[in-house]
Amino acid sequence: MRHLIDILDFSVDELQELIDTAVDIAEHPADYREACRGKKLATLFFEPSTRTRLSFEAAMYELGGNVLSVTAAGSSSAAKGESVSDTCQVVSCYADIIAMRHPLDGAPLVASFRSGVPIINAGDGGHNHPTQTLADLLTIYREKGRLDHLTVGFCGDLKYGRTVHSLIAALARYPGLKLVLISPKELRIPGYVRYNTLEPNAIPFEETEDLESVIGGLDILYMTRIQKERFEDPANYERLKESYILTAEKMAMAGKDMSVLHPLPRVNEISVVVDDDPRACYFKQVLNGKYMRMALILKLLQEAGRDPGPERRFEKIELIGGPVCKNIRCITRVEQELKPLYRLTDPKHNIWRCAYCEARRPE
Ligand code: CP
Repeated sequence: MRHLIDILDFSVDELQELIDTAVDIAEHPADYREACRGKKLATLFFEPSTRTRLSFEAAMYELGGNVLSVTAAGSSSAAKGESVSDTCQVVSCYADIIAMRHPLDGAPLVASFRSGVPIINAGDGGHNHPTQTLADLLTIYREKGRLDHLTVGFCGDLKYGRTVHSLIAALARYPGLKLVLISPKELRIPGYVRYNTLEPNAIPFEETEDLESVIGGLDILYMTRIQKERFEDPANYERLKESYILTAEKMAMAGKDMSVLHPLPRVNEISVVVDDDPRACYFKQVLNGKYMRMALILKLLQEAGRDPGPERRFEKIELIGGPVCKNIRCITRVEQELKPLYRLTDPKHNIWRCAYCEARRPE
């Protein structure tokens, strides 16, 4: 069974295939109106969402299919203690494909182990958000005409911003990428992004706290919200919440071709006056997300019965047991019947990471 849990589940060629399909859908929507007739998508959202859930649902309706929806953990039997795995085994009896958002890192991966239908990760905790990455890639491709040889600045909450982690993993496979990571020290990228993606792929990157000093050299500025809901100490959020605000004055320091992306929702990190700047692409990104989710649904339904082939990530990776994961947001900390599993991500330094959430294995 083919799933989308992590953006690396798709090769670069497959991402291009999705982009090409999405562009064709945008140009010829009528050709796709019956493509999923008789099929059902279940959207299981255990955490708030506007764009991701509604764009999945709009995508399925525009493909001629139907939608079943759980819009809050409290409205499903998850509130009675039903596990993610049981929930998805049950829902796969009703639906042909499932998009799941969950507050715990690794939940969609757990769902995929026993689901009878494709699982799409629609955002797991502070970990990954691969379908936002699909929206981001199409936006960059349409704005720049390429995905290679780009200097991309990520600004804001790079620690908890799951869209950042997935987009860096995706872009790292294209040649000529340079990254500028702009954040307060406390909100720098997690170790798994640095050690699983940047270092092994020799991606040039600099870290800075100062947006103004680097904005002039960027092709893309990817702004992010400070993720209030992920902070363990609310006082830290209060201290950091206004770290960056993109204003018209700062845009005046940027190149005339720089594109501003943001996964949205925004709080105050982009001033509304920037919305009228032709370089602001974040509302185009929303529409691109719908086209890419249409392309994704088509691909996963076409491949649902197919052997995923030897390239699937977890099937060829050695996993070992170990102590309980130390990440309090890991699915294994809540669903304690799940066996802790670790994979060797850095053989040179013998670093093992949790197979669910990518936190380092406790010593
Ligand atoms: N970008 C994004 O994931 O938005 P929602 O939280 O509204 O789905």
